[in-house]
Amino acid sequence: MKDFAGKVAFITGGGSGAGLGQAKVFSEAGCKVVIADIRQDHLDEAMAWFREKKADVHAIRMDLTNREEYAAAADEVEKVYGEPPQLLINTAGVNAFGPAEASTFEDFDWVIGVDLFGVINGLVTFVPRMIKAGKGGYIATVASMSGFMASPTCTPYSVAKAGVVSLMECYYQALKPYGIGVSCLCPGGIKSNIAESALTRPEHLANTGYNTNEKTMAAERNIYHTVGLDPVDLAKILKKGIEEEQLYILPVDNPEEMMRNTLERFINYATPEGTRKQEELAAQRREGMNQPGGANPFAEAHEAGWGKARPDITWVKDDR
Ligand code: NAI
Repeated sequence: MKDFAGKVAFITGGGSGAGLGQAKVFSEAGCKVVIADIRQDHLDEAMAWFREKKADVHAIRMDLTNREEYAAAADEVEKVYGEPPQLLINTAGVNAFGPAEASTFEDFDWVIGVDLFGVINGLVTFVPRMIKAGKGGYIATVASMSGFMASPTCTPYSVAKAGVVSLMECYYQALKPYGIGVSCLCPGGIKSNIAESALTRPEHLANTGYNTNEKTMAAERNIYHTVGLDPVDLAKILKKGIEEEQLYILPVDNPEEMMRNTLERFINYATPEGTRKQEELAAQRREGMNQPGGANPFAEAHEAGWGKARPDITWVKDDR
């Protein structure tokens, strides 16, 4: 997709961080933008910004894990703009950190519910409407580098994002005949509010095995705001990837090297010799990170208890 002028764009998580950056960039490119978000305060703040710019932006408060609310939001888009979106961007997401072995069912249900099923809900709701409208279009989803990494300290997130990667490649192939392009953006870090994820966690899924409190949230926020990309810069990278109809968009200097390392890990783990080689590589990486003055932006956060198990879970080894 190269021409964005006059197109309706529906952006989940559009009230904050990466989604808000996308709303700004695609509105600037001429889209009529719908921002959908569970947090009314994020929507209010975003809308105040867009009103000042006199941009054509419409806000919908919704929980994307609720399929009825999703369908109602899709109806609202058609009522307001007379057609379904031609650009769907699935960006909303949450994260939670703690050892895999401390995870509760609720940790999995919540994170996979939002990060994977939220995207599935978007696709099942909008794809038939987009196909029936017959105008083609584009679907982009924000996964994460975690989708390629299998992290033992944010396992539900890694699992959800790996699922999103596969999901988008399936849809990339399936939607070609309809003139609907697909991209999957896989960032490493973003200056955003994702450290506040726990604030939107529903009461019935509140039981977590992870240590999450104001201190860990502040420490996590500090990491993203130190190492993360600016949301508008990231949205410009996404726009370029959409223009070039590229399936995987990796905002790093050397995407090929990153993918080669990922695939090499799979190849190594497929043989006994490779497994030993991979374990050595992992040990070297840990060693490098633990050296005094070594580049470990996570040390301070770990000090605050971020990434650890809930304090009353005493059977988890805490020597990672
Ligand atoms: P953010 O927290 O600033 O924005 C996410 C938005 O999604 C928030 O406004 C939140 O209210 C909304 N949201 C959460 N649950 C929702 C639900 N059930 N229904 C509707 N809206 C909901 O965070 P950020 O970082 O901008 O996240 C955007 C995407 O980027 C996510 O998919 C995240 O996994 C991904 N990502 C973030 C990275 C980071 O370093 N922050 C790195 C890689 C990927």
